[in-house]
Amino acid sequence: MSTEFAEVPIQKVKDYWNARPCNIRHSTAEIGTQEYFDQVEARKYFVEPHIPGFADFEKWRGKKVLEIGCGIGTDTMNFARAGAEVTAIDLSSESIALAKKRAEVFGLSDRIKFFEANAEQLADYIPAEKYDLIYSFGVIHHSPHPDVILKHVRENFTKPETRLKIMVYYRYSWKTLWMLMLEKGKFWKLDDIIAKHSEAQTGCPITYSYSFKTARVLASNAGFEVTNIFADHIFPYQIPKYVKYEYEYVWYFRMLPKGVFRWLETKLGWHLCFDAKVK
Ligand SMILES: C[S@@+](CC[C@H](N)C(=O)[O-])C[C@H]1O[C@@H](n2cnc3c(N)ncnc32)[C@H](O)[C@@H]1O
Repeated sequence: MSTEFAEVPIQKVKDYWNARPCNIRHSTAEIGTQEYFDQVEARKYFVEPHIPGFADFEKWRGKKVLEIGCGIGTDTMNFARAGAEVTAIDLSSESIALAKKRAEVFGLSDRIKFFEANAEQLADYIPAEKYDLIYSFGVIHHSPHPDVILKHVRENFTKPETRLKIMVYYRYSWKTLWMLMLEKGKFWKLDDIIAKHSEAQTGCPITYSYSFKTARVLASNAGFEVTNIFADHIFPYQIPKYVKYEYEYVWYFRMLPKGVFRWLETKLGWHLCFDAKVK
């Protein structure tokens, strides 16, 4: 695992996500309109259909949810719509601004508190409260010290009943193989290669990746016990068509029976999702 990621200044991470907030091009409609946000959500859950099942939005009705790295707020809206009381934080001011606008558009502002904050020092930004759920999808692996984030939330925002739901990237995934092929098999540069190609915009400053074992260790060292862990999500579409909002599988996935493709996702999916409880 790259030690260099730990040295990256947080400002560099912030600049990267401000330049292109996550999923901002998921719609061609005018940014900030209801049509825009509806299309963003439709595309996100079409391409990543495992998210609603993992987040289990309905389960958190009437509960306090802390979302770390909300981006432009797709999951945030769904926790709020389901009736949760949400605190949503992100390092990127551009993302927070759009997520706030989204809450206004859908009349959900009274159920969500937004903060522009660095999750590694969250207690400096948000009131010390205990949450029922701490949720973070595709975020902590982009921060210099993911371990610090989990230790910090464990110390400041959990009670014995708190549940954690985290998605980090799976190191031994189909996507990793694809990235290695793109870079002519330079496995000794794997961390750099993963960071270069992990996101829609190339050159992410930090992208850690985990095995099932190292994800469990990450959680355990922070005082959490993993209760469920699985891999999911292989991106099967032809990229030139995908960027034009057309969805056609690449030829080798087209040839696979649906059931076999689903099986492959559980073995080599890019998203390593885990639930954990306080130890
Ligand atoms: C891949 S996006 C995911 C956004 C959102 N969870 C989603 O699924 O659409 C990663 C997000 O993590 C945020 N992030 C990275 N490091 C962070 C940190 N230390 N504190 C807070 N947010 C951070 C970025 O600003 C970015 O919005």
